[in-house]
Amino acid sequence: MEFSMIFILSNTLLLLSSSAFAKTVSPPSPPLSPTPAPAPAPDFVNLTELLAVAGPFHTFLEYLESTKVIDTFQNQANNTEEGITIFVPKDSSFSALKKPSLSKLTSDQLKQVILFHALPKYYSLADFKNLSQTGSTPTFAGGSYSLNFTDDSGTVHINSGWSKTKVTSAVHSTDPVAIYEVGKVLLPEAVFGTDIPPTPAPAPAPEIAPAADSPIEKSADSKASSPSSPDGSSSYKILSYGIWGNLVLATFGVLAML
Ligand SMILES: *[C@@H]1O[C@H](CO)[C@@H](O)[C@H](O)[C@H]1NC(C)=O
Ligand SMILES: *[C@@H]1O[C@H](CO)[C@@H](O)[C@H](O)[C@H]1NC(C)=O
Ligand SMILES: *[C@@H]1O[C@H](CO)[C@@H](O)[C@H](O)[C@H]1NC(C)=O
Ligand SMILES: *[C@@H]1O[C@H](CO)[C@@H](O)[C@H](O)[C@H]1NC(C)=O
Repeated sequence: MEFSMIFILSNTLLLLSSSAFAKTVSPPSPPLSPTPAPAPAPDFVNLTELLAVAGPFHTFLEYLESTKVIDTFQNQANNTEEGITIFVPKDSSFSALKKPSLSKLTSDQLKQVILFHALPKYYSLADFKNLSQTGSTPTFAGGSYSLNFTDDSGTVHINSGWSKTKVTSAVHSTDPVAIYEVGKVLLPEAVFGTDIPPTPAPAPAPEIAPAADSPIEKSADSKASSPSSPDGSSSYKILSYGIWGNLVLATFGVLAML
């Protein structure tokens, strides 16, 4: 009993002294850190989740998934310095698309059309001022699949030959991921050819609205088929002011169609 007590005591003393010894010999070095401080991880942006709650962008998301392009885009969002810029048409833009239709495309062509909706680099809205000077900008679909941008005092206009539209709102724009809502599905000449039918001249505007009960679908259609509306330059800014902005915009839209 006594012996074991002494044994423990002496062991403890030994331990203490050896640790004291170690302390005195070891050079005055900064405390050991097990791993170097990790670089701040960029926030993971789940594109599927983001597109599922915004919009509605369900049609675009379905195409992204059926063509597996979602993996290409998510990988670019995850792993690159460059980042990604995606142009997303709403469900109503897909339903307004009667001619040419996406349903007759081969799966390869459809994949190219979806890849055509993104640039392999992050661009803030302000960056498009610069891009408009460079002429055509290559998209994710590569090669001859390019888009032309023009900046009209803050409104970004997009021209693919077949589709002349604009950025209608910024869904997400934080480096490295930008997602912009666009007014139309972007159709590449590389798939649909250069034989673009001329845009029909707008019908002469009547002085008085024919009826206040015209169906909403009809007005959505005519809005989608007109290349640009007079309120174009200010629509983006108005949109960012929320519900009142939307009301004002809707009023403008109705006025523009008279
Ligand atoms: C992204 O979000 C989708 C839909 O919410 C989910 O199914 C998927 O697991 C998420 N992916 C990651 C990597 O978190
Ligand atoms: C993107 O990153 C998330 C989170 O780190 C990961 O779960 C997901 O599998 C990655 N997806 C791709 C396509 O790289
Ligand atoms: C804008 O364009 C100029 C010249 O083309 C280039 O030097 C500059 O880096 C560009 N800026 C951005 C933000 O891309
Ligand atoms: C895009 O810009 C290039 C270079 O300025 C031009 O050659 C081409 O015709 C333009 N495309 C469209 C669809 O406007």
